[in-house]
Amino acid sequence: MSSPRILMCPPDHYGIEYEINPWMNRSLGAVRELAFTQWKNLHHALLSLGVGVEAMTPRPGLPDLVFTANAGLVFHRTFLSSRFRHEVRARESPHFDAWFAANGYEVKHLPENMFHEGAGDALFCGDTLFAGYRTRSDATAHQWAGNALGVRVLPLELVNPRFYHLDTCFCPLAPGVALYFPDAFDAYGRRVLTTHVPTLIPVVEAEAHRFGCNAAVVGNTVVHNSRCPELAGSLVRAGYRSVEVELDEFLKAGGSAKCLTLRLDGEEAAGWKAVPNPGG
Ligand code: ARG
Repeated sequence: MSSPRILMCPPDHYGIEYEINPWMNRSLGAVRELAFTQWKNLHHALLSLGVGVEAMTPRPGLPDLVFTANAGLVFHRTFLSSRFRHEVRARESPHFDAWFAANGYEVKHLPENMFHEGAGDALFCGDTLFAGYRTRSDATAHQWAGNALGVRVLPLELVNPRFYHLDTCFCPLAPGVALYFPDAFDAYGRRVLTTHVPTLIPVVEAEAHRFGCNAAVVGNTVVHNSRCPELAGSLVRAGYRSVEVELDEFLKAGGSAKCLTLRLDGEEAAGWKAVPNPGG
């Protein structure tokens, strides 16, 4: 099997320069050196797991470019570019589009009148795309993406502003297995999850607030933020290996391990059975 591939972007220009989610506070800016060390530790942890890490060129004036998960949705060789809700992040898209085009992907765009924030809000678990909407992405955009890629979409409303992207409160580990933070969803969303994901591992509130659900999965290993002992225990009991990397400087922007990575070859949990139109 070929080695997993992940896109990351070094934090040269990372910082808290605006406030677009409840975690961000300009007066509590990120500590540059520490952010670098934490990012490098994540990078190193992924390399040690045999991941081929591709690096984007960081750009001044784009402090959130480090969060590559939000670039778009990768499906086989198609890159469905995000339509960011906030203009400050929409400026990242030309850079992501250029990277994907240069690396042999077919770059597609959603219609202009809908928002979609890529793998931040759309995660495969088996061959179904679980899709978080309201705060950033629109339900209509998820339906559009599902039709464009030929996959089933299950929309989940995100009801807690602190968990504004689906990847902050839901993390597929394998087909039929996922971590989740129940309070980020309404009763209907929780019912959709329990019906369609047979093994749901709950994350406790304190650790959900440390973005324990925002984990990067590589094979049987789950890389997540530090000081999530209950999560680490649940993972081990479920047959996974937990690797902790402190990423608190990125928590200040509302991100952690998962948002700092974009899987290029299909995640462990992604079925990717549906074959896209030949040539399309
Ligand atoms: N500051 C970024 C934003 O609010 C953080 C994005 C984190 N990414 C994620 N997938 N949750 O857009």
